Amino acid sequence: MEYLVGVIGAGAMGSGIAQVAAMAGHNVVVYDMDAAAAAQSRTSLERTLQKLAEKGKIGDAGALMSRFRFVTEMNALKDCGLVIEAIVERLDVKKRVFSEVEQIVAEDCILATNTSSLSVTSIAAACSRPERVLGLHFFNPAPLMALVEVIPAVQTAPGLTDAAKTLMSAWGKIPVIARDTPGFIVNRVARPFYGEALRICEEGIADMATIDKAMTETAGFRMGPFTLMDYIGHDVNYVVTETVFQSFFYDPRYKPSFSQKRLLEAGWLGRKAGRGFYDYREGAPQQEPVHDPALWTAISERIIAMLINEAADALYLNIAAAADLDLAMTRGVNYPKGLLQWCDEWSTEKVLAILDGLYNDYHEDRYRASILLRKMNAIGAKFF
Ligand code: NAI
Repeated sequence: MEYLVGVIGAGAMGSGIAQVAAMAGHNVVVYDMDAAAAAQSRTSLERTLQKLAEKGKIGDAGALMSRFRFVTEMNALKDCGLVIEAIVERLDVKKRVFSEVEQIVAEDCILATNTSSLSVTSIAAACSRPERVLGLHFFNPAPLMALVEVIPAVQTAPGLTDAAKTLMSAWGKIPVIARDTPGFIVNRVARPFYGEALRICEEGIADMATIDKAMTETAGFRMGPFTLMDYIGHDVNYVVTETVFQSFFYDPRYKPSFSQKRLLEAGWLGRKAGRGFYDYREGAPQQEPVHDPALWTAISERIIAMLINEAADALYLNIAAAADLDLAMTRGVNYPKGLLQWCDEWSTEKVLAILDGLYNDYHEDRYRASILLRKMNAIGAKFF
């Protein structure tokens, strides 16, 4: 690849993205304002590449390492053709960094943000040439997760989105295009996986272990919602839910849960803290699921219907194409099946029966079915 890639922010995401770019053949400049973070990134990349070389997955780790420069001066980014920002998730800081980097790089340098929850359009607005800005949302860990959401801002130049998509494919990634709306695809469509599970638990319909069992055993997910929330950490998962809820002008569909908020307040952040929904401390008693396959089916169908509804509504609102919506969920968060594909297999009639049943019981807007499902059901249409 002929151009130099710059990465701003040498944390978990920046280091991972730098590794992906270097492995795709680019020379990479990794810039962090914190010298310790830049040094730590170098050390961890060295270790990772060494391990990959030992496993025979890459050739010479030293040769690959020579593609990186770790710097603490933003000026070192001046010759880059693409700069990807992965700093702290704060709009004011990102805006400042974008307006600064724009004065350093050439006019045709592409500027991308890895934000997972901020508006790409607001970040672009900090630039005098906002048409060169877009979102490239990698998933953690970036070298292992294939999905990249490509997010054009309102101002992004026509053609840049497709060019970025082509580049991400060349980097060995699976790019999907998402509209610049809260949560893009994955962080929006996945909300009911957590939210509906929490609701079912809070209402006492089933306990956590039983809900997790329903989603793994009956629905085929790799992890149940409570295990997954504990794994992600409530400092991340709860905050994403709250941000999405606020960004959607408090749409009740995305309402956060008090049980999860309390865990965050208690510092029971999940697996990394030794405690979350479950107790991971040495010798702690394990919760056993109730063995009730009929209950498992009812739980999993309720959660899957809510997920399908979210995906259908995202399609209806032109957030992404149908194929991209399914790719995002299968390759970004390892769902056993694309949600629209799932709907085709179940039928819109079945999904609507579940959603309308919930709506009739609760009389809550949270359970409103997407108009797209009704329109499709009326004419017997399928997504694929
Ligand atoms: P991190 O906290 O591990 O790393 C951020 C790095 O940016 C730190 O090394 C910090 O010193 C540096 N930094 C902060 N402000 C800076 C500035 N003004 N100039 C230069 N360097 C600066 O954060 P992480 O987890 O790597 O996330 C970074 C970005 O990626 C955030 O926008 C986050 O939303 C996004 N993201 C994170 C994911 C995750 O699972 N951690 C997944 C997808 C996106």
